[in-house]
Amino acid sequence: MFRLAHLSDPHLGPLPEIRWRELVSKRVLGYINWHRNRGATMKVQIIAGLMQDLAANGPDHIAVTGDLVNIALRAELGPARGFLDSLGKPEDVSCVPGNHDAYVPGALQRATDSWAPFMLGDGDGLPVRFPFVRRRGDVAIVGASSAHASAPFLATGSFSDKQRDAVAQQLVELRREGLFRVVLIHHPPIRGATEWHKRLIGGRRFRAMIAETGAELVLHGHTHLATKLAIPGPHGLVPVIGVPSASHGPGGEKPPAGYNLFEIERAGDGWNVAFVERGYNRGGTLAETGRQAWDYDGRGLKPGLVTTARR
Ligand SMILES: [Fe+2]
Repeated sequence: MFRLAHLSDPHLGPLPEIRWRELVSKRVLGYINWHRNRGATMKVQIIAGLMQDLAANGPDHIAVTGDLVNIALRAELGPARGFLDSLGKPEDVSCVPGNHDAYVPGALQRATDSWAPFMLGDGDGLPVRFPFVRRRGDVAIVGASSAHASAPFLATGSFSDKQRDAVAQQLVELRREGLFRVVLIHHPPIRGATEWHKRLIGGRRFRAMIAETGAELVLHGHTHLATKLAIPGPHGLVPVIGVPSASHGPGGEKPPAGYNLFEIERAGDGWNVAFVERGYNRGGTLAETGRQAWDYDGRGLKPGLVTTARR
């Protein structure tokens, strides 16, 4: 049995000492926004408690789907790297970037340089390239990047033709190897999952790829919501799972911090997966907040456990 944990969008705080010359253009908006809306609800203690709970559940691997930082200042990168280091060894933690990690032009490059050991595929050298592929037991992690710098007031992501070709090629190969394929991407590849200004450009391209190549699981962040949807693969459904922010306190607009665990076990020519949601409840106590048993018949997930997304 392989235990994969998924967390996302810690938006690590507190914001480090600002260097004012970095507060240009879009960052001014982000800084004000963070202080008004985000700063109040995002507590370091919340993350610390969640991480303790996560560690107690002994995952074999942890997937982090981006938005580690807020406005991608240079001074935010070190603390974010420290957060990744605190989760585990780089070979046991895989990370893909989010739009906040790519907040302004040049930021994505600095982030991937700083967090590289957590973003390199097996046997890959620097610089980081997406998608990366990591094989761990029966599980293959395919890390895609939807992160790009966007104009003020936009939080879009993109999935290009080029990345589609590379991801598709890997998914076909990994299927041949008989592995449980997990795709990581920050933005939800689901139509209507976000407001228009936060959407994934190329979402249709992503779904068309999955319809052809399949995958066993797609994990995303960005929405800060615990969503359980599915998109069609070539022979059955492919679950697409979103997770709350790892740092939201209880009592906010969005659900309190949580993470997901996937206990993956080969079963004949298919898979059995126990999908466990853990996080803070309304009272601020850490608890199991959901559990499902998924049965893959070797082709895809049987319908009924996750809601099929609108095409
Ligand atoms: Fe995001």
